Amino acid sequence: MTHIIDGKQVAASVIEAVKQGASDLQRTKGVKAGLAVVIVGDDPASHAYVGAKGRMAKQCGFNSIQHTLPAQTTQGELAGLVASLNEDASIHGILVQLPLPKHLDADAIIQSIRPEKDVDGLHVVNAGKLAIGDLATGLISCTPAGAMLLVRSIHTEDLSGLMAVVIGRSNLFGKPMAQLLLNANATVMTAHSRTKDLASVARGADILVAAVGRPEMVKAGWVKPGATVIDVGINRIDAPERGEGKTRLVGDVAYAEASDVAGAITPVPGGVGPMTIAMLMANTITAAYRMSGLTSPSF
Ligand code: GUN
Repeated sequence: MTHIIDGKQVAASVIEAVKQGASDLQRTKGVKAGLAVVIVGDDPASHAYVGAKGRMAKQCGFNSIQHTLPAQTTQGELAGLVASLNEDASIHGILVQLPLPKHLDADAIIQSIRPEKDVDGLHVVNAGKLAIGDLATGLISCTPAGAMLLVRSIHTEDLSGLMAVVIGRSNLFGKPMAQLLLNANATVMTAHSRTKDLASVARGADILVAAVGRPEMVKAGWVKPGATVIDVGINRIDAPERGEGKTRLVGDVAYAEASDVAGAITPVPGGVGPMTIAMLMANTITAAYRMSGLTSPSF
């Protein structure tokens, strides 16, 4: 029987640990963990994500702050806000929602966040710490960190002897995911759109992670029997079978057929998705503990 990896359940247990960590921090140090989320412009999807992050931060007992800036905000204005959040002792985590409007230089903004407060794990200092295997002092990008907890829920900590293939090479996901797997002793290959014979490369994987942004691209024939499949894609496609104009969410993996071959697989929705927000909360608690001179809880 294929094991369906329940991301909602794993995320809920992370959130429970975060809530406990937040209340312990407040009791022992009088410190309330603070998360500031910055959004520029009025993209509805981005507003929906940011709203969900803020609500979850409140549920965790954090000081949850949202800065909503107009689409015409200048680079200098946004940089000024980040600089003031960097200095604000009540804020332990800063997240600037991406994408930013085209006239803004997103990378310059991300790199101006103090690495200790970079709960997105996108600062070069945090990317570099992950690259050298320093997981103890850096902050790790939320979606790969969450995907890694799902891998661990199947394989435990040590992936020695296992072949992992990550399809996708973005800074936000593919690169950090490959490094997390390598750090856990897996043998890792990063495949992408220019890889020759992607299907046969994927078929070599004991752990197959798909983050390509193409609906249902990974077919059953790409999956080694018994493999663990982690689907990071979230794609909205037309679903005329549900009625005119209806849509549904699918991943990068053709779930129905791949789940017949895989040993364990994440569904979409309900797999990696819920983990991202949970790991953002975990990173915020980690940052708050470190800034209070404490060792953070582990997740
Ligand atoms: N937009 C979509 N995903 C993310 C993310 O993980 N972090 C930020 N900052 N923006 C996003």
